[in-house]
Amino acid sequence: LAVVGTGALAACSNAPGTTRTNFAAPARLRPLAGQRVVQHQLTAKATSLDLGGTTVDTWAFGDTAPGPLIRATAGDLLRIRVDNQLPTDTSVHWHGIALRNIADGVPGLTQDPIAAGSSYLYEFTAPDPGTYFYHPHVGVQLDRGLYAPLVIDDPHEPGNYDLEWVVVLDDWIDGTGRTPDDVLADLTAASGDSSDSMGGMDMGHMSMGGNPPFGDAGDVTYPHYLINGRVPTAPDTLCAKPGQRVRLRIINSGSDTIFTVALGGHRLTVTHTDGFPVQPHETGALYIGMGERYDATVTLGDGVFPLVAVPYGKEGQAMALLRTSSGAAPAATVHPAELDGPILEGAELLPAEASRLSSREPDSNQMVHLSGQMMPYRWAINGAPYGKNDPLLVNGGDRVRLQMMNMTQMTHPMHIHGHTFALPSGLRKDTVLVKPMSALAVDLQADNPGNWMTHCHNIYHAEAGMMISLNYR
Ligand code: C2O
Ligand code: CU
Repeated sequence: LAVVGTGALAACSNAPGTTRTNFAAPARLRPLAGQRVVQHQLTAKATSLDLGGTTVDTWAFGDTAPGPLIRATAGDLLRIRVDNQLPTDTSVHWHGIALRNIADGVPGLTQDPIAAGSSYLYEFTAPDPGTYFYHPHVGVQLDRGLYAPLVIDDPHEPGNYDLEWVVVLDDWIDGTGRTPDDVLADLTAASGDSSDSMGGMDMGHMSMGGNPPFGDAGDVTYPHYLINGRVPTAPDTLCAKPGQRVRLRIINSGSDTIFTVALGGHRLTVTHTDGFPVQPHETGALYIGMGERYDATVTLGDGVFPLVAVPYGKEGQAMALLRTSSGAAPAATVHPAELDGPILEGAELLPAEASRLSSREPDSNQMVHLSGQMMPYRWAINGAPYGKNDPLLVNGGDRVRLQMMNMTQMTHPMHIHGHTFALPSGLRKDTVLVKPMSALAVDLQADNPGNWMTHCHNIYHAEAGMMISLNYR
């Protein structure tokens, strides 16, 4: 929500839970001695894209979706000018980066929106290596095609691979004559003003036992699923040689879809999630929620191999190709056998020693109670939608335990800005799938002062209220 609430709320714009305006321009950052500066210019604009035989009119960063890869090395100073040529306000959020609060890109919380026709300079240091992405933090703009990968390299990592492939997954709605804003309007239209009488239970969407393991699938049906902006009939293709090692950097930039990913004929060795190293874990396939990232390495066989992403609980699939020989491409509907074997869930991973959060008893406990339903379409944290719920208040330096409690029939990918949290195993993540009717406690070190959004990365849920801010006192 760019701006939440009514005129009445705006009148008390510094009250808890409301948004404010008139942020000062961020102080300029000068590079420290020896610090490298990485500069980019991004243009958010209306454009038409060829998804591979299907042309769509949409919004993007430049003339591609995903937009341009931004790449830097940990410790670099990034200077990114965003030129807003959209017909409306926007912003850019650097998802997963522990950056200074004022560059976090959340209108009403860290900055004023970037008005149509104006530009804004984001300057921040990226402290931690990893696979990230960027997208607006205004409405459901992410689902228009405004998303792109952001890779922060590790100056100390040996880089034990020959090639890298950034794999960006998406569920694509534009080009159907309905925009994401239309879809959100339809979802919320039935809501009316009647109050929630179901105690937050998802009665309208209740399916006995659900659809294991994530309960009900998303709320939106998509005509296309994409890898790197391509439909399966005209797939993005990486050419390599047999025996080469490839590092996959898999990003789910979908707005409403958990994917299952497999590379036909190969096992994936997962090495990182959400940027942080894990104890290498081999699997045939993995689940990836909205906003999550997984890095995996593979040693390539000889042939043409489909990289397939199947939307959880929905029809269709996304596909790209990895080609080490000149054989015929598989059909767009190919189903790699790996998808029928065990599928790795992020929570099964263990942290690499170096990324383990030191163990410490929490100084404070914060309740993050998720509720909501399809009919009326209303999602909330701690009993109220964003703008009406009270921010979580923390002290700098504290170890904070977030007690996430999902009281719905759906899995929610819960994301926190500016921090990572540790799962009970010590695994560090910034986005975690919280399953239906279940609880998950995660710990974070309050080491990055500011006001930080915490929300479901189903962008429709977030926009319908499933957000809260975590504010330093
Ligand atoms: Cu990609 Cu507020 O998130
Ligand atoms: Cu959600």
